Amino acid sequence: MMSPTFQDLESQATSTLRFFLNGSPIVLDGNSFDPDSTLLDFIRSQGQGFTGTKLGCGEGGCGACTVVVQSRNPATQQIQHLAVNACLAPVVSVDGKHVITVEGVGSPENPHPIQERLWKLSGSQCGFCTPGIIMSLYAMVRNAAYRGSLSTADVELDGILDGNLCRCTGYKPILDAAKTFVGEYAGKLDSSDPVVPINFEAANLDHADCCSNPAPSVQGCGRADCCRLTKEVDDAPAKFPRFKLKPYQAGTELIFPPSLTKHSPSFLKFGSTSRQWLRPTTLAQLLAIKAQYPDAKLVGGSTEIQIEVKIKAAAYRVSVFVSDITELHGLWPPTSTRSTFEFGANLPLAELEVACKKLVSELGVQQSGPIEAIRTQLRYFAGLQIRNVASVGGNIATASPISDLNPVWVATGAKVLAASPDRPEFELPLTDFFTAYRKTTLPRDAVIVKIIVPLNDTAHREIVQAYKQAKRRDDDIAIVTACFLVRVTPEGKISLVRLAYGGMAPTVLSAKKTEAYLTGKSFSAKTLENALEVLGTETDLPFNVPGGMASYRKTLALSFFFKFWHKVCSEINLSPDLLPSKTDLQDLNTIIHRQLSTGRHDNSDPYAQEVIGRQEPHLSGLLQATGAAVYVDDMPKVGNEVYGALVMSSRAHAKIISVDATKALEMEGVVSWVSHLDLPNERANWWGGSALDEVFFAVDEVVYHGQPIGMIVAQTKILAQKAARAVVVQYEDLPRIMTIEEAMEQKSFHPSYDRWIKRGRPIDESLAASDHVLEGTTRMGGQEHFYLETMAVLVVPKLENGEMDVYSSTQSPTDAQRWVAVATGVPRSRIVAHAKRLGGGFGGKETRSSHVAAIAAVAAKKTRRPVRIMLDRQEDIMITGQRHPCRADWRVGFSSEGKLQALNVDFYCNGGHSIDISNGVGDRAISHLDNCYFIPDVDFHSLVCKTNTVSNTAFRGFGGPQGMLVAEHYIEAIADKLNLDIDHVRQINLYKEAEKTPYHQKVLDWHVPRLLSDCRKTSEYEERRAAVDRFNKEHKWRKRGIVLVPTKFGLAFGVKAMNQGAALVHIYMDGSVLVAHGGVEMGQGLYTKCCQIAAQELRVPLTDVFTSETGTNTVPNTVPTAASASSDLNGYAIYNACVELNKRLKPYRQQLGADATLAALAAAAFQDRVSLSATGHYATPDLGYEWNNQNETGNLFHYFTQGACATEVEVDTLTGDHTVLRVDIHMDVGKSLNPAIDYGQIEGAFTQGQGLSTIEESLWLRQNGAIFTTGPGAYKLPGFSDIPQVFNVSLLRDAEWPNLGTIKASKGIGEPPLFLGCSVALAIRHALKSARKDAGMNELQDFRLPLTSERIRMACGDFLAQKGRVEKKEGQEDFFVHI
Ligand SMILES: Cc1cc2nc3c(=O)[nH]c(=O)nc-3n(C[C@H](O)[C@H](O)[C@H](O)COP(=O)(O)OP(=O)(O)OC[C@H]3O[C@@H](n4cnc5c(N)ncnc54)[C@H](O)[C@@H]3O)c2cc1C
Ligand code: FES
Ligand code: FES
Repeated sequence: MMSPTFQDLESQATSTLRFFLNGSPIVLDGNSFDPDSTLLDFIRSQGQGFTGTKLGCGEGGCGACTVVVQSRNPATQQIQHLAVNACLAPVVSVDGKHVITVEGVGSPENPHPIQERLWKLSGSQCGFCTPGIIMSLYAMVRNAAYRGSLSTADVELDGILDGNLCRCTGYKPILDAAKTFVGEYAGKLDSSDPVVPINFEAANLDHADCCSNPAPSVQGCGRADCCRLTKEVDDAPAKFPRFKLKPYQAGTELIFPPSLTKHSPSFLKFGSTSRQWLRPTTLAQLLAIKAQYPDAKLVGGSTEIQIEVKIKAAAYRVSVFVSDITELHGLWPPTSTRSTFEFGANLPLAELEVACKKLVSELGVQQSGPIEAIRTQLRYFAGLQIRNVASVGGNIATASPISDLNPVWVATGAKVLAASPDRPEFELPLTDFFTAYRKTTLPRDAVIVKIIVPLNDTAHREIVQAYKQAKRRDDDIAIVTACFLVRVTPEGKISLVRLAYGGMAPTVLSAKKTEAYLTGKSFSAKTLENALEVLGTETDLPFNVPGGMASYRKTLALSFFFKFWHKVCSEINLSPDLLPSKTDLQDLNTIIHRQLSTGRHDNSDPYAQEVIGRQEPHLSGLLQATGAAVYVDDMPKVGNEVYGALVMSSRAHAKIISVDATKALEMEGVVSWVSHLDLPNERANWWGGSALDEVFFAVDEVVYHGQPIGMIVAQTKILAQKAARAVVVQYEDLPRIMTIEEAMEQKSFHPSYDRWIKRGRPIDESLAASDHVLEGTTRMGGQEHFYLETMAVLVVPKLENGEMDVYSSTQSPTDAQRWVAVATGVPRSRIVAHAKRLGGGFGGKETRSSHVAAIAAVAAKKTRRPVRIMLDRQEDIMITGQRHPCRADWRVGFSSEGKLQALNVDFYCNGGHSIDISNGVGDRAISHLDNCYFIPDVDFHSLVCKTNTVSNTAFRGFGGPQGMLVAEHYIEAIADKLNLDIDHVRQINLYKEAEKTPYHQKVLDWHVPRLLSDCRKTSEYEERRAAVDRFNKEHKWRKRGIVLVPTKFGLAFGVKAMNQGAALVHIYMDGSVLVAHGGVEMGQGLYTKCCQIAAQELRVPLTDVFTSETGTNTVPNTVPTAASASSDLNGYAIYNACVELNKRLKPYRQQLGADATLAALAAAAFQDRVSLSATGHYATPDLGYEWNNQNETGNLFHYFTQGACATEVEVDTLTGDHTVLRVDIHMDVGKSLNPAIDYGQIEGAFTQGQGLSTIEESLWLRQNGAIFTTGPGAYKLPGFSDIPQVFNVSLLRDAEWPNLGTIKASKGIGEPPLFLGCSVALAIRHALKSARKDAGMNELQDFRLPLTSERIRMACGDFLAQKGRVEKKEGQEDFFVHI
């Protein structure tokens, strides 16, 4: 057949895409949407009913946009369900397929079992991640139904959820909900209607234990048919959650639309001449396109390209979608006559992984090496959503220096088969393919058709192994990646060796000299030593290497080889005396990865009343799980609405010379340019969290990279962002200060803040009188909030009197109202700020959200049109601030027994360019420097550094964790110095009941000693500590660490006036109750707890109580939802309102009887003209601490939430990887208002603390002061497989709280457990001490978090780390700045 010409193709082309969306056919003209639209843009543009699919990052790293694409596999014709990132997928990719979104899975009225279980088992807090997680699980369950079974390993170990992030839950409840599906399916989907029973046991739901375990503490398992639910028990108030869960019926699912089976894909062409999409269906068509447009951009999975378009603003004139070309999708396993493994260039990686798994089990060891190496890399390549669409061809063509697979191709000697218009087939060896940074030998007009991997056909033993080290094991780009191949003759000599590295050079690095040295050698210690020597010279990096981490990267390169060497030695039957011990071999040859997770809550509600104290699921959890919950950007478009895109500074500190928006304003669809000139007056530009020290729009100077200068307003988001890039700003650079050290050196501190706490003798005198004195420096990095919903606002001007409705994702509607009023020049009474729910906040949306709201309001005022902004993830990270990086320089005095005598701390935090509420953070930090320990004499001093970075702000814990970390550092230092057991040092220094903190507050209801002792017992801490010691003696390359750490967190806002709450409660005539209060729901279950309080007090079922939103028109002058105090403040205010209503209803209760319904009472009261609406107010009593005053002035906190946890970790000392083996948390939350929510807060806070102390690292670029970690690709949150393998949480019960005057004796819980997450780093330090001891080093001085894999590896100090250390030469600086 003649090859078609491009003109032939054009003549048959259609621009009509046909696909299904949630069971409905869609016929879409490709010319009707912006060619740069993604599938996510398309879905969300469908409006109400289609906003469940979320934008969390736009770079394939969070999974919030996950949809399921149902299609027939082109090769097998089987129906498959692929979880896909809609934010990366081009619309054209779904032609002929069925797209299922969360709304297609179920609805609030008829939820899918996955949705119901995730909700009821508390797997959804803020809910922004939930639809994406539902969709990943949906794909899992549907594929399992076709397969016929689902195991816990399928759920947890095969990466089903590795492309999804959740910032709230700590993942455990999600995994538990997923594991309820584990089991054998009664039959395949297309047999009759299999019903899958709920697997309580797999889901850690206690059922099995409950029904066989007589332990009195186990009160039930939560099952509706639990054996303990006797009739009497059933009638009594329930002591534990009892949920009826729908069984799963595979036969009720959405089917693959029959009409799509008949769909035959045709040549598609749409878009304009300046931006065109083509979709060929055959290789011949593709080559015809290439003949016409040699530079046409091929699009496979689009996982690389869409990042270039979105983040690097790449523009392509002609894009060609190639993933529907069957020739590029094939798989050719080796045969008896062909010893190669071949596959199509655009075969999705997930399919390749499955094929590799199968082949490895079929082929013998002689041939399976390369395939196993491919499989190894694929398992940890991106997240599943990416693997489901991304291709090897795309990866090879990208030629990334940190590709996971390219070293495999080089080491295995693979080739690509390419084709171009004038050369139908030609081979290119991959060993010479990568020529320079992102450059290859592939001709410009060529396409990769297939990849050919040669398999061993010699008699020599071939061993191949691939390695990858990243910051996080799942879904992370490599730091260093490698693949090694060696062939060994029967005589034990190396006949062939290839050592290929990624991450060590601008392109794949082949260690040629080491290969040459090794060829012909046999295996001996000397050969290894010499090889490492040569390799050391080949993998050397300059200290200032792009990407940083020079020492770590070199050490990894050596360590991987060291591992490989031993792997080979163990596989070629070397004499045992030439081999390390079996244990060492085992440690060298395996990677650390969490195994199946388990764990329990003490599943009973000891303080349950009718409504409060019960494990009620989150009230909007079902809406969240079905995608029906409305966040700001889900609000329907308001007529005439426009979109705002910020123009942000590209300098960290500079004078603005000029700003020119002319080009942008000329673009079609652009409505306006908004800047400081649009403010009512100069003063209106000034705002701030606690001082007027920053501007909404930069005027003549920018003080941080990313600072908003102005905003383009346009018809659509895509257009506004394009136009914003066309605004030209000229700068003149000024010197910048980035780090705490630079600020200290230049005395750059925020002038309004200088705080101290002193007690006892002058500190120098006290230290001099101490038996011993030690000094140290504790450093903790910042932390990005990474709430899944970025900041969003919709401002609707009412066009009268300056009135505006502001719908903001803010933790503080009152602040949004205040700053919008200032920026638009009207009294606050004309601005109504609303917040219905937030997709997470964690402090990040407390003050900083006002900035975005005010800018949008200025634009709305100017254009007289509704303005919407939802920041992209990168913008959000650039402008909204983080947890404060901090540094504490301390001196501690202590007795020879280890008792604390004196503590002097100079505490510095990096506040960034403005003070915001850094003063509060500094205050809290120095008020937590004691953690749980009594110190007679103290002198603490706190300053906030003024730097040219984004303004740092509140983050869960608000300085508390930073302070407590210092405490655990000096405790560790004392124990080390005196050679005492650290637990003993902790124990003898613990506060006793009614002892006073440095700020003179009595520590009352002091349960930490009991929590520690309970935790010690239930976690079997002593036995496990001994086991850890044994383990560490026996293991050289793996080390374990275990710690038992207490925490005490002071509850109250630092500013006395902020300790108030207010509420408004209406009773309607049908007996339903509307509750409004000052608190914002951001996932923490505040609305649920508050409704429980109202229901309890008004004696109605919880279902009768409702909260619609938080608005400044219902409850004015509210404080931000923060400081873990919102249920204390608003809960009590609601209670007070209900007390007032009850007072008014009392006569009717007496008249109508105790059983009268609220509707009847309301009707009777109405007849008597009694108001059924009441406000309530609450002010926290007994507060009055005065700062910088050594006298006893009053309490700083209302009470302390307390806790303890035992944490055990394991570390791979050759890579720096770690896993958390077990965590047992005991918390004192008083009488919990809702234990289900409190467990969730504890697990979620712990996980955030774990991230803070280990993998979460913000980095700045030295070259321009910009933040580098602007998305999930570079900034790693803990993922599903990072959580503890065993995770037990217990709430203190059978205790007394005589001094606790809070609502129903409950305690705030949002922030207090966060510090316990830092126990992971403390446990790693314990492990590291053993590693260093083995290396002959006894001290571990540097106390700096996060303890990343880099810091862990380099701290091990072994001979490889020493060999790998890269010294800094004159004039060299680290590529990154740690601020
Ligand atoms: C969140 C995320 C995580 C990631 N994680 C990893 C990771 O862990 N390891 C890793 O190595 N990479 C990772 N990547 C990078 C990316 O996923 C891979 O490079 C992927 O293999 C690209 O394949 P694709 O089909 O999506 O390519 P596309 O984005 O479609 O295309 C990439 C390039 O390949 C070209 N191309 C595509 N097909 C052909 C062909 N047949 N012939 C010639 N050129 C072609 C395109 O023109 C383009 O230049 C990640 C990306 C994201 C977004
Ligand atoms: S929004 Fe698509 S992965 Fe984050
Ligand atoms: S519930 Fe997962 S991010 Fe909030």
